[in-house]
Amino acid sequence: MILGTGIDLIDIRRIQESMNRFGARFIQRVFCPNEIAFCQKRPDPAAAFARHYAVKEAACKALGTGMRHGVAWRGIELFREPGRKPYLRLNGGAQVRLDGLMPEGYQPVLHVSISDEPPYATAIVIIECRPIDVFS
Ligand SMILES: CC(C)(COP(=O)(O)OP(=O)(O)OC[C@H]1O[C@@H](n2cnc3c(N)ncnc32)[C@H](O)[C@@H]1OP(=O)(O)O)[C@@H](O)C(=O)NCCC(=O)NCCS
Repeated sequence: MILGTGIDLIDIRRIQESMNRFGARFIQRVFCPNEIAFCQKRPDPAAAFARHYAVKEAACKALGTGMRHGVAWRGIELFREPGRKPYLRLNGGAQVRLDGLMPEGYQPVLHVSISDEPPYATAIVIIECRPIDVFS
């Protein structure tokens, strides 16, 4: 069952401006250490940060809250592992909200897809719930 979808489109130049203006203060407020390490190693860090930013906005729309009701930027974290598609984990208020959306006996599965075509970056997040398999 699909419980939520969210999409976001962002101008990479806006993220670059925030990086120029607020530097580490902006980056550390919005992104998790694992995301910062990943983005800083990319050939175009601003584009990488913009893709992550789009993921966070898409996720908070899928949750139906925006960045409110305890849902915070760093409560939505994108992970990457070699050879695996990127995946999302929530914590804090975002996790509480996600759990609150789950019907009894179901568990969440988060789907994320990301793209860019400079100067824009985009992401979509889908919240699925699946029955908990009590025998696995
Ligand atoms: C929900 C949120 C992500 C919308 O993002 P936005 O960049 O303002 O606007 P977008 O153009 O991407 O999206 C707008 C659409 O989001 C949808 N939307 C608004 N609130 C929503 C919510 N709580 N849940 C899901 N979707 C929502 C609406 O459909 C809206 O379109 P509409 O006005 O035509 O109905 C935004 O309210 C939010 O919480 N942003 C955090 C931004 C912020 O704090 N920035 C500070 C800079 S560090």
